[in-house]
Amino acid sequence: MKRVITYGTYDLLHYGHINLLQRAKALGDYLIVALSTDEFNWNMKQKKCYFTYEERKKMLEALRAVDLVIPEENWEQKRSDVKLYQVDTFVMGDDWKGKFDFLEEEGVEVIYLPRTPEISTTQIKSDLSK
Ligand code: CTP
Repeated sequence: MKRVITYGTYDLLHYGHINLLQRAKALGDYLIVALSTDEFNWNMKQKKCYFTYEERKKMLEALRAVDLVIPEENWEQKRSDVKLYQVDTFVMGDDWKGKFDFLEEEGVEVIYLPRTPEISTTQIKSDLSK
């Protein structure tokens, strides 16, 4: 069983997110999403979510591609997560290219997938507020 992990906020779930999750799942058999908590988003990323952690979690859990959702509470947990969940492959969109290569030291394959063009949560929020 090949286990894949990815991290993110996934607020206002959109087709860019779905594309990423489907491609991540296709790289293995079991997909774990580490979902940023509301506190982590606010304190570390200065992002205010529209949907709460529990709401975002529920939507991800409803997707066929997603097997498990765990909380992302800090930047440091990745090394311990990949050990705890026996992860083979770490995946992120290529807006994060190079940032998590250090996980290769833990024996994990690190893959950055191309982002889907022209869609993001920030873009949706700004378009709606016009
Ligand atoms: N993602 C993607 N294509 C997009 C938007 C996001 O592949 N068009 C990927 C990101 O690279 C990341 C995951 O989806 O691996 C979750 O990204 P997140 O930051 O939650 O979504 P964004 O829409 O990028 O949100 P924001 O605008 O707040 O950064």
